[in-house]
Amino acid sequence: MEKREKIVLTGDRPTGKLHLGHFVGSIKNRVKLQDEASKCFYMVADIQALTDNADNPEKVRNNVIEVVLDNLACGVDPKKTTFFIQSQVPEIAELTILFMNLVTLQQLSHNPTIKTELKERGFGESTPFGFLAYPVSQAADILFCKANTVPVGIDQLPVLEQANEILKKFNATYNVNLFSKITGVVSDIPRLVGIDGGAKMSKSLGNCIYLSDSDVEIEKKVMQAYTDPGHIHVEDKGRVDGNVVFTYLDDFDEDKKGVEELKAQYQKGGLGDIVLKKRLTKVLIDLISPIRARREELAKDPKSIMKILESGIENARKEARKTMIEVRKALKIDYFS
Ligand code: TRP
Repeated sequence: MEKREKIVLTGDRPTGKLHLGHFVGSIKNRVKLQDEASKCFYMVADIQALTDNADNPEKVRNNVIEVVLDNLACGVDPKKTTFFIQSQVPEIAELTILFMNLVTLQQLSHNPTIKTELKERGFGESTPFGFLAYPVSQAADILFCKANTVPVGIDQLPVLEQANEILKKFNATYNVNLFSKITGVVSDIPRLVGIDGGAKMSKSLGNCIYLSDSDVEIEKKVMQAYTDPGHIHVEDKGRVDGNVVFTYLDDFDEDKKGVEELKAQYQKGGLGDIVLKKRLTKVLIDLISPIRARREELAKDPKSIMKILESGIENARKEARKTMIEVRKALKIDYFS
């Protein structure tokens, strides 16, 4: 098979600061992929954020800088990655409208990601049409620059599958070979549990450790983490499965052998939660405090962040204009060229 050039695109909805789940689920892959790709884009998905926050544009606006700071602080590098804001590339909106004819209402309403998210949001009989349609706009986010590699959290895979359906239909219907298959890149820790033991770390569930949390906040959250409710006295036998502290030690503690020894001791009895929690607190502070320090440094100069976005937007629009010339030609709406 012909080796294709890797074009990476990824993004976040600006609805809040990012947490450890984002870090392990996709930011780490972003940092890695920016050295392998021929082009790399990071998009702040403000339009997508508005699909379920139409009544709260301030929230979306205020969080644009927050998600950019989180990504910069983790090492997504504006010299390698084009940072831009979705709403500032109007070609994405145009491409979304054209893609809408290539997808059915039924496909969207049966999409597993959308189904779960609709339930989580409790829209009932009042689903915003834009929210239901966000996978179409996400296909346009990815394809306006012909990206083919998308680091995402595992929850987003059905959305990428939908994008692949759309691009296949586009190529077939208009007899072109404009877009090539999108590959989702999922991390080895695709879904981080919440500190409360919930299936997923998520802002709406209030069970997150943020990349901007202070050492004191990290310690406080770890001390409240879910362990084994049956492990009451130090000498009791404890359970490792489903014990958040061990799950996190597995994910974040480099000393794998040390963690295995602790597990054995915990299962036998004679090891208290506090010892484990102290160890996890240190591991997480070692990981997060340098990120937080870089974040605080960068946040002192918001103008320079806006400059990164401005020049990124210019770059993204250049790509978008090139793609739209081909798209308009394929759809025979290129009247005056
Ligand atoms: N839907 C993604 C999320 O909720 C954010 C997003 C928008 C995105 N457009 C994208 C991710 C394009 C990857 C590619 O996390």
